[in-house]
Amino acid sequence: MHDKPLAIYPGSFDPFTLGHKDLVERGLAVFDRLVVAVVDNPQKTSLFTSEERVQMIREAFDYDPRVRVEAFDGLLVDYVKAIGARVILRGLRAVSDFEYEFQMAQMNRQLEDSIETFFMMTGQNFFYLNSRLVKEVARLGGSVRGLVPDNVLARLEEKFGVNR
Ligand code: PNS
Repeated sequence: MHDKPLAIYPGSFDPFTLGHKDLVERGLAVFDRLVVAVVDNPQKTSLFTSEERVQMIREAFDYDPRVRVEAFDGLLVDYVKAIGARVILRGLRAVSDFEYEFQMAQMNRQLEDSIETFFMMTGQNFFYLNSRLVKEVARLGGSVRGLVPDNVLARLEEKFGVNR
C-alpha cells in the first residue's frame, strides 16, 4: 500500500489571502493532501492569533478533508518530520521572493536533507498581493474585498470597521 502524497504548506498567513488559497488549490492538483501549517511565533507580533488564523483557514476551505490546518512552533523541518511528510510547498510570486525563499529552502535542506521544497507559481492575479499590504490597507480603511476570502474579510471588518 502506498501513502498518498502529502505536502506541508507553511506560512504566517496573517491573514490568509486569496493568493494563499490559490496556491493550496494548485497544490491539491499535484498532492492528494495538504497540511496548511500556521507558524506560531511568539517573538513576532501578529494581527491574528495562531488559533484565529487556523480557524479562518479551516473555514475558507469549508473543512475540505484534503486540507488539514494546524499551528506549529519550533523548526519547520522538525514539524514536517513529526507528521511523516517529506515535501514543503511554497509559492513564488515576483522575482523579489526568490532570495528569501532560496535562503529558507537551503537552510531547511541543510537541516534535513530528506525534505524537499517544492515551489509553485502563484496565480498571476496575486503576484503582487501580500498579507502585510492587506493589513495596512484594511487598517487604513481601504477595501480588501477580492483579495482575501469572505470570512477573512469579515474578520478584518470586525477589527478595523467596515471598508468601503
Ligand atoms: O509566510 P512566511 O512568513 O513567509 O512564512 C515563513 C515560515 C513560517 C515558513 C518560516 O518563518 C519558518 O519556517 N518558520 C519556522 C522556524 C524555522 O524553521 N526557521 C528556519 C527556516 S529556514
